[in-house]
Amino acid sequence: MIPLVKPLFGNEEVNAVKRVLDSGWVAGQGPAGAEFEQKFKDKFGYPNAVAVNNCTAALHLSLLSLGIGPGDEVLVSDYTYPATAHAVKYCGAKPIFVDIHEDTYNMNVADAEEKITDHTKAIMPVHAFGQSADLDSVHDLARKRGLKVIEDAACAVGTKFKGQFVGKNSEFACFSFHARKGISTGEGGMLVTRSASLAEKARSLSCFGIQSAFKRQSNEFVLPSFRELGYNYKLSDILSAIGVEQLIKLDGIISSKRKLAKAYSEELEGANGITPPFEDPRGFHVYQSFVCLVGEGVNRDKLIQKLRENGICAQIGTYACHLQPVYGSKQACPVSKDVFERALALPLYAEMTEEEVHSVVKKIGACIK
Ligand SMILES: Cc1ncc(COP(=O)(O)O)c(C=O)c1O
Repeated sequence: MIPLVKPLFGNEEVNAVKRVLDSGWVAGQGPAGAEFEQKFKDKFGYPNAVAVNNCTAALHLSLLSLGIGPGDEVLVSDYTYPATAHAVKYCGAKPIFVDIHEDTYNMNVADAEEKITDHTKAIMPVHAFGQSADLDSVHDLARKRGLKVIEDAACAVGTKFKGQFVGKNSEFACFSFHARKGISTGEGGMLVTRSASLAEKARSLSCFGIQSAFKRQSNEFVLPSFRELGYNYKLSDILSAIGVEQLIKLDGIISSKRKLAKAYSEELEGANGITPPFEDPRGFHVYQSFVCLVGEGVNRDKLIQKLRENGICAQIGTYACHLQPVYGSKQACPVSKDVFERALALPLYAEMTEEEVHSVVKKIGACIK
């Protein structure tokens, strides 16, 4: 079976975990957590970072830290894993689903503008599959209409827009280290923000709402107090240690996946009615996933089934959230619906070979016939 993804783990991660186990500090907020946050900030130039147990928690904390709550509306890119909209619901606010562009699978900001009401407080673009949303348009709209911006950058570790890493100009950006993401700690997440006070607020909320400065390596005794209802969203130091090693591998992983994505696109172009993913020339696409569109006459679900029977683990792209019963949404997002029905994710991981890419494409041809 050619798997859909395969995280790149080696002795580096094993040794890093052993060091943490030997040290005895296996919970969160320890030295490995501090190192992971510092290295994440250094690598991308983010001023503040807080490691958490997954990206959904990071999204939840971002919304809470901005005071989003009942009665508020948040504009959410419709074509995303439901975690994005779930986080809005956790706060008691209402997700308003915004349609996408068919080529990039990212938020159509003109549709977002049309859906703004007096209750709209924030906008959540998603960098679909590792390609940046149109951050210029998002920030223009946010400035014009006084909205906070929370980037769902779950798939976008290392993604750039106009030469700059995503997440630099928004209130928050949230990354995932789930097994299917660019780098992985098994489960894990990171939030970044321009604001030191928002970072401290989010950090406190990630640790039960504790109200004391975090003095990780200090012997000073501080008696903490709990002034607000926080959560336990800390990332274990065991996983942070894996994250440090994964960060070192990130550039190699991205360049290998970009090379394979290019090979896929060249082979797929014009064959069997498949549209390969479009790369916005303003961005740097890290290809968390390789997601193409099948032609209108092709039954995508049957194709996935046949590919699996032929040893290739294909998958859908992601979800049209407005169609998910949990939200009871009445919004229309026709492009997202169409992409939801036609998108096909193909195997892609750093150690894949170009021969395997070739054999996947050949099998697609045979399965479509
Ligand atoms: C776009 C998007 N947002 C959020 C998430 C949630 O990430 P996590 O599993 O780290 O909570 C995912 C994960 O699948 C995702 O793809």
